[in-house]
Amino acid sequence: MTDRKNGPPTTTDAGIRVQSDEHSLTVGPDGPILLHDAYLLEQMANFNRERIPERQPHAKGSGAFGTFEITQDVTRYTKAAIFQPGASCDVAVRFSTVAGERGSPDTWRDPRGFSVKMYTEDGNFDMVGNNTPIFFIRDPLKFQHFIRSQKRRADNNMRDHDMQWDFWTLSPESAHQVTYLMGDRGIPKSWREMNGYSSHTYSLTNADGERFWVKFHFHTDQGDGNAYLSQDEADKLAGMDGDYHRRDLFTAIQDGNPPSWTLKWQVMPYEDARTYHLNPFDLTKVWPHADYPLMEVGKLVLNRNPTDFHTEIEQLAFEPNNMVPGIGLSPDKMLLARGFSYADAHRARLGVNYKQIPVNKPQVPVHSYSKDGAGRTEKVSDPVYAPNSYGGPSAQPDPGAEAGLWHADGDMVRQAYTLREDDDDWSQAGILVRDVMDDAARDRLVTNAAGHLSNGVSEKVLQRAFEYWRNIDGATGDKIEAKVREKLGGKSNAPGLASAQSIRGKQAAE
Ligand code: HEM
Repeated sequence: MTDRKNGPPTTTDAGIRVQSDEHSLTVGPDGPILLHDAYLLEQMANFNRERIPERQPHAKGSGAFGTFEITQDVTRYTKAAIFQPGASCDVAVRFSTVAGERGSPDTWRDPRGFSVKMYTEDGNFDMVGNNTPIFFIRDPLKFQHFIRSQKRRADNNMRDHDMQWDFWTLSPESAHQVTYLMGDRGIPKSWREMNGYSSHTYSLTNADGERFWVKFHFHTDQGDGNAYLSQDEADKLAGMDGDYHRRDLFTAIQDGNPPSWTLKWQVMPYEDARTYHLNPFDLTKVWPHADYPLMEVGKLVLNRNPTDFHTEIEQLAFEPNNMVPGIGLSPDKMLLARGFSYADAHRARLGVNYKQIPVNKPQVPVHSYSKDGAGRTEKVSDPVYAPNSYGGPSAQPDPGAEAGLWHADGDMVRQAYTLREDDDDWSQAGILVRDVMDDAARDRLVTNAAGHLSNGVSEKVLQRAFEYWRNIDGATGDKIEAKVREKLGGKSNAPGLASAQSIRGKQAAE
């Protein structure tokens, strides 16, 4: 009894002391409830509005806070304040799966999101990456379709391997990322032991206006970045502890064991991009380290857990267009589309004033001309327009060249990137299988891919999948086919997506 009185008095949201935590207002102890029990009404109404929409995609995840600090002199490449000698800043980081919903298991096979928000003195810099250095597609028009194919069918609202492989095998540019996905990276052991990559190429500009292209790599300091769970382990954990990765990160930080990552860059001189044998802006490709070696840049440490998941993680909003002077986007079509998509997602999910939610607020003064809108908490002041002669903010361009600008000229077309000498969909995936994986990793790849393909994939899609794998690596393709045939005892009888009653033109195709 005494313990219960130690806390502060309960109030309504208006700060008014309430009379009871347990009994609503009634006419006599057994009588009806009264409408003027404002506290009861407020509790019921707020409860009904607790859930906000989940992210589409990357709904399941968690994160933590800490610091980024520069450890090497990279002023040769960028004038960004956060990358100058001695600089450091607070950070927010969120890890996630892609296709699963907010309550889905952490250990489903999927790429993992790796998002970093740096609260720098130039404003917020966001790097919204993954645990793989490349991606499934290279044109943003395919992104929505790709995500739908990985999520749920229209009719039974279940995930379906047939539609996943249908999309992948009709999109050969996915080969490199699918190879990562079916390998060990597809189920990391923990977020702490996983690397993060910008995947995209970004641009840098130094104080003299020189321009460079860059890829970000956050290498985990807790191992080599390849720690994985087997499919069996992951399947068991999915049933036993859906929050396995979330729990691991939270517990490590709580126990005073803060994970850290070393930021490294691959830098390409601006002019190299014109003639490099691979399109350096194609998101399905890596830059070989032999051509562009990794250089150390700084250290990221996560040492603080959220105390309120909703306000600090669920409402945490990353956007690739948050670029600070000295860092910019690049001609990667995917990255340019992401420059629009995320802010739009946040406006839809969190409201137009999402940047005023404390976790999204920059740690520098904001002097923008945005005004009004639902949920605004910061006061706007006059004058509300520019240009003005009443002392309002005025644009004061950053001295020197702006990052993220390049030469462009040409007819407007709908076409794939111009192919370079060594641009193809299969080679780098093949190198990953043959030269990066060892025998044991290759065996796991075959087992994982064959297990996935033996689960509900129709014969017509299967045949394309075997061809797809043989294009990546002949021997691996043969082994995958042999294993699938053995598991299925011959051909697949699975109808796949053809079982959907609503398929348009279904009868014509049959
Ligand atoms: C055109 C391509 C893409 C589009 C249109 C797109 C769009 C989106 C959208 C709308 C969200 C949900 C945002 C939210 O509600 O908070 C999201 C989340 C996310 N995306 Fe993408 N995405 C694309 C490609 C990529 C790529 C290539 C990567 C990694 C390199 C990536 C990494 C992430 C991550 C990590 C999140 C979760 C962010 C968080 O932790 O809150 N996306 N994406």
